[in-house]
Amino acid sequence: MKGIVLAGGTGTRLHPLTHAVSKQMLPVYNKPMIYYPLSVLMLGGIRDILVISSPSQIGLFRTLLGDGSSLGISLDYAEQPQANGIAEAFLIGAEHIGDDPVALVLGDNIFHGPGFSTMLHDEVKNIDGCVLFGYPVKDPERYGVGETDQRGHLVSLEEKPARPRSNLAITGLYLYDNDVVEIARGVRPSARGELEITDVNRAYLDQGRARLVDLGRGFAWLDTGTHDSLLQAGQFVQVLEQRQGVRIACLEEIAFRMGFIDSAACYALGSRLAKSEYGAYLMAIAGADH
Ligand code: DAU
Repeated sequence: MKGIVLAGGTGTRLHPLTHAVSKQMLPVYNKPMIYYPLSVLMLGGIRDILVISSPSQIGLFRTLLGDGSSLGISLDYAEQPQANGIAEAFLIGAEHIGDDPVALVLGDNIFHGPGFSTMLHDEVKNIDGCVLFGYPVKDPERYGVGETDQRGHLVSLEEKPARPRSNLAITGLYLYDNDVVEIARGVRPSARGELEITDVNRAYLDQGRARLVDLGRGFAWLDTGTHDSLLQAGQFVQVLEQRQGVRIACLEEIAFRMGFIDSAACYALGSRLAKSEYGAYLMAIAGADH
């Protein structure tokens, strides 16, 4: 399965933070925001990943993440000239996707919860249609919203409905079979001028091939869309990391634990950052096995 991290957009709601630098490059506690969605793909075992961002920012992501080889993954980069909508990722990424299924994650989405890696592994195994991840929120009108029947089957999908039919937000992690490229080619711009991901998902729903996985209330899906929620996301990560002594979305650790790199490589990555606590952490986890 291929992966795409969509990290473009204008970030206007976070101005002036995002005047010069992309939203997905902003810190969430001790690492850039894009680490979190990238970690999701890696936890799902996805190693061939395209990062899409605006022409002015794509070089910064390349500087930050490189070609991925040090993490045992492959990273490519592509430009989205304008924020024409999330579904444009499949048009820009068509060549990268090739004949494979694909996982798309939005560059500003943060997921954290027990058993997430195992669940992702199970879900990416046999994709037929699309798999969406729902999360209960108190303000569903800000998101794509899914409605389910009594058996938990998806029956409707709406983008930012004024009167939501449920409190289940559709999160920014989407798994698709290869049909998504053809489906995205058929999507037309919405009233707000965007190629809507919800229209892609609704096409699958109309074919009876959209499945919803409810992440449930024990899980954390964090918002980074406002100054307050960005700060709160950072505080959430800080609290968990300091309490448990482990790191969330530490890409080098995930690469090591997933078997993408060995302990010597993990230790070497840590020693390059030895002056920071981040580097010391990497050396410690690799050292235990080294
Ligand atoms: O976060 C989940 C929500 O993301 C879903 O529930 C909605 O269905 C989906 O439409 C989207 O809603 P948002 O209002 O959050 O979309 P936004 O325009 O803020 O874009 C989400 C991310 O994708 C953001 O990091 C910017 C990036 N993006 C967005 C667009 C429209 C791009 O890179 N290119 C784009 O063209």
